Amino acid sequence: MNGMEWRLRRIMKKETGRSLVIAVDHGMALGPMSGINDLKGTVTALDATGCVDAWLITKGMYTHSFETDGSPGIIMRASGAATIAGPDLCHEGITSSVEEALSLGADAVAVSAFIGSEFEHQTLVDTANMATACHRYNVPLLGVMGLGKTNEGMKKDPKFIALGARVGAEHGADIIKTYYTETDFDKVVAGCPVPVMIAGGPKCETDLDTLKMIHGALQDGAKGIVMGRNVWQSPHPAALLAAVNGLIHENMAVKEANQLLEEKINS
Ligand code: 5RP
Repeated sequence: MNGMEWRLRRIMKKETGRSLVIAVDHGMALGPMSGINDLKGTVTALDATGCVDAWLITKGMYTHSFETDGSPGIIMRASGAATIAGPDLCHEGITSSVEEALSLGADAVAVSAFIGSEFEHQTLVDTANMATACHRYNVPLLGVMGLGKTNEGMKKDPKFIALGARVGAEHGADIIKTYYTETDFDKVVAGCPVPVMIAGGPKCETDLDTLKMIHGALQDGAKGIVMGRNVWQSPHPAALLAAVNGLIHENMAVKEANQLLEEKINS
């Protein structure tokens, strides 16, 4: 056992090798928003389900608005400093350090890189430097592979998503967060030597769509989710989490998970 393995186990469940991570770091760029306006309330309600393996959160919200009965893993976001009011959301910089993350009790650090954006070079250099700093302490780095706004269409292009996932790993990330592509996502996973997890993006039309997306990604080899809006903006976040947990850790089919969702809603 070593520090890297130990910390990865706080994120990825040993029994399944998969993870259900809830992202609540959106406020750093988007401000207060539905579902995480009252972050403490959201965290408390979702923690009570016992389904959340780890949280992706900023240092500020972790310090002021985070309280759980359980002891989930913590992935501290260490890049940011760009908002929707500014010129470009891709212009992120480093906002924390591995030392600060460790002092706050985090198990891993997350940094974004924006492939194909004007800030691709700088954000990849930041990713690589943070990987070096993290690995000095055996702390895993989550590479959040974003895209420039002008590249939104490319979110669905498996070649482009595969490029981002591979590039993140090449620059030292130990886990990759990226977008699910309905076709050829298995190729995205095959080209990346570290676990690939999916973000959700903007809210799907229905919870069933969210379940289908997660199931598709798992079938193609994803190791779980680092997801926000599709969970905490759902009309039934706790029930949905139980169903998502069924997909990720109990290998449920979509139909079975959807049945569980209905049962939880009606209980
Ligand atoms: C916000 C992020 C989010 O953590 C990420 O996009 C996952 O959330 P969602 O499922 O809502 O897309 O990087 O800055």
